[in-house]
Order: sequence, then C-alpha cells, then structure tokens
Amino acid sequence: MAKVFLRTFGCQMNEYDSEKISDVLRAAEGLEPTGRPEDAELIVFNTCSVREKAQEKVFADLGRVKHLKRANPRLMIAVGGCVASQEGAAIVERAPYVDVVFGPQTLHRLPELLERRRASGRPQVDISFPEIEKFDRLPQPRAQGAQAFVSIMEGCSKYCSFCVVPYTRGEEVSRPFEDVIQEISALAAQGVREVTLLGQNVNAWRGTIAGERADFAELLYYVCEIQGIERIRYTTSHPREFTPRLIDAHAELAKLAPHVHLPVQSGSDRVLAAMKRGYTSLEYRSIARRLKQARPELSLTSDFIVGFPGETEADFQATLKLAREMGFDTSFSFVYSARPGTPAAERPDAVSQQEKLERLHRLQALIEAQARGISERMIGTTQRVLVEGASKRRSAELSGRTANNRIVNFAGPQRLIDTFTDLRITAALAHSLRGELLHA
Ligand code: SAM
Ligand code: F3S
Repeated sequence: MAKVFLRTFGCQMNEYDSEKISDVLRAAEGLEPTGRPEDAELIVFNTCSVREKAQEKVFADLGRVKHLKRANPRLMIAVGGCVASQEGAAIVERAPYVDVVFGPQTLHRLPELLERRRASGRPQVDISFPEIEKFDRLPQPRAQGAQAFVSIMEGCSKYCSFCVVPYTRGEEVSRPFEDVIQEISALAAQGVREVTLLGQNVNAWRGTIAGERADFAELLYYVCEIQGIERIRYTTSHPREFTPRLIDAHAELAKLAPHVHLPVQSGSDRVLAAMKRGYTSLEYRSIARRLKQARPELSLTSDFIVGFPGETEADFQATLKLAREMGFDTSFSFVYSARPGTPAAERPDAVSQQEKLERLHRLQALIEAQARGISERMIGTTQRVLVEGASKRRSAELSGRTANNRIVNFAGPQRLIDTFTDLRITAALAHSLRGELLHA
C-alpha cells in the first residue's frame, strides 16, 4: 500500500483541511497515512503563515526531506496551506524539488495536480480561490469516534491590519444550510455525538433557510434538532458578529457547550482601532457580560497579540486589566509578528522584542493562574464528559473532555468510549483533571 506523510502546521482550520487532504488522497490514489517520511510516496506539508516562525519552519522542513528524493525518485513533495497561498510559484523557485503547490481552497484538486506533474514533468501550482467547489468535490466525511469537526464557512473578510488570513484564504464564503445539516446528520448516523462547527469567523455564517435569509444563531437552532448530536461547539467566533440572538441561543440551547472562544487581541481601544478590529473594549465586555448572564457557568477563552506596533505599557496594562476582569480561561497569546503585505507591517514599532516577550510572559502568567483557579474550583463538582479513548499516560484508564474543554482521566470500563458520562472531579493537575465515575 502506497503511503503519504502529511505534516500540519498552524490552526484548527489547517487540521481540518489536513483530514480532508487525507480523505481525498485515500479516495483518489489509495494512499494511506504514515508517520515516517522515508516510507512515503508523497510528502505533504500543510503550512501556516500567520506568524513568522511558522513560515520559516516550512522551508527548514522541506530542506530536511529533500534528500529522500535521491533514494526514491518517484517521491513527490507537495506544499499546501497559507504559505503556499501567499508564496505560490516562489516556493518552487526557492525549493525546486517541490512538485505541487496548492492552496486552502484547491486541496481537492491535489490528485489532478499530482497527475499533471507526472504527465508534464513540471511542478504544478494552483492557489486559486474557486470558492465552495471544494466541498462539492470532497468525499463524504467518515466519523472517527464520537467527536467531529464540520467546516461551515471559509475565509475572512475582516482584514484586521495585522493578519494575512483574508489574503491567504480569501473572503468569507458560507456553505449552504442544506449541506451543513446533511453532513452533520450523516456524521450523527455514524455515531458522532459532539460536533464542532468550524470557520475562520464561524459566526459570520449566512445562509438561506426555507427561503429566508438566516444567520449563525439560526443555524445553531437547527443543528440542535439533529438526532444523536448531544453537544455543539463552534470556533472561532468574532466579536463583531456576536449578535443578541447568538447570546440568546446560549440561554436557550442546552446542547450548546458553555464555552466560547472569542478573540479580543487587546484591551486598549487605541490598539483595537489600529488593529481595525471593529469593536471597543467596552463592547467586548458587554458581550461577555451578557453571555455570562445567559449561561452563568460559561467559560470564555481568547486570543491576544502583545507588542502590536505602538503598543505602550499603558495599552498593555489595559489588556491585563481586561484579562483579569473577564476571568479568561486557557487562551492563546502571541507576540506581534509583522506580516509582509499587511498594513500594520508599515507602522513604526519602537518597542524592543525583549520588552514584548516580557509582556507576553506577564499576560501568560496571569491567564495560567486564572485557568488553574478554574480547574481547582471544579474539584468536587460533577462534570459531563465525552469519553474519547484510553488515557495518554495510563492506558488502563480512560480520558474524556468536559464542556469547558478540559481533559479528565479516570478509571472506567472500555464500553464508555464514545459516550457521555458523568464524573466527579477529584484533582486538578497542570494540564488535566482527575475524576471518578459517578455511577461506578
Ligand atoms: N478569526 C480569528 C479572530 O476572530 O480574530 C483569528 C484567526 S487568526 C488565524 C488566529 C490568531 O492568530 C489571531 O486571533 C491572532 O491572535 C493571531 N495572529 C494573527 N495574525 C498575527 C500576527 N501578525 N502576529 C501575531 N499573532 C497573529
Ligand atoms: Fe485574521 Fe482578523 Fe480575520 S485576525 S482571520 S483578519 S478576523
């Protein structure tokens, strides 16, 4: 059986795309995944360009597999994802041993591109945006366990001044309502119990339901009706698209997980405006407050950029203050990375990298302490977890995920795998919880 080595960098969208790349390659070329590049007939890097480090890693990794072509002349190397989308043919110029370059919107064409590469003897590049064609051409999703991701929209039209995503993934495009419902129903019929709706701005989803224009909140009501689906998550949402109706949905839909990932980036209005985020810190606070009114146990996580060009110590203090007030749970924070072609890259930037790293550590220490506090307060409570499989550390134990996205390890029978079960939390560790079955 011929094999593919697939390496994924970056965000959850890329993880999702990689699964689709695997599906496409299995269906069209009969390729099975391998963890060893030496065993592969095809090596695929699904890349990320959101920050500098991610981008440089790609070329370092490509350099490391180049020599494998000498041992196996049939070996093909393909580069997809956001670096591919941004650099296009420049990748083949810098690394001429690359055979195919494809973008996030053309991953379904990978088999054709490989075929054309073989037939023509020349590297193939296709980083176009043929919109939603991709979804129509992908094989039907196959459930793996009781948890599944479903992409409901692609791209981003927000153009934050620091971000490459609108350029690499294109403008926002929503999948039709019927397709989304059909895909989730098919997954539910295969045993999926928890679904995560995915999109770069998932709550910017727009569609037509029964002839009427509909938004993301409405879609959630329909997803809740799908038989078998017991828990629904979504990521990543954008504050600008957080409508009162979406907040109401959190009060009304019990299946909606009480966890929202809502990137804020900064607590300073001056910085938010320069970032072109389209909201003030007061507006963000208002969404968070109303969400917690709607669902008191709701956990809020976020993304932050520290050291945006021109960020002062006072701006950063405003971010710390907001993080404290919001009581954010485990979040992502990054030092600003100037991205070529984005407006923010042109701004004067006086703060030293060392100062930025110090700010990052201060913010991360604060949020880690808050997350630890949340974990500790969970001790003694009952939590419903979706049991995902054997525990990573002790294979005799099971591992499940709470509504607020924490791993709980516990002793229990194998038959609980892929079902929901109630646990009493007995201990909080750094990256997981321990629990015991409530009805042992
Ligand atoms: N759609 C999401 C939102 O509502 O903000 C963001 C998607 S972006 C791919 C993921 C995260 O990467 C952002 O929230 C931001 O914190 C971070 N990010 C994006 N561009 C960045 C840059 N130039 N430097 C540092 N971090 C960046
Ligand atoms: Fe990037 Fe802002 Fe869109 S962070 S993905 S341009 S919402």
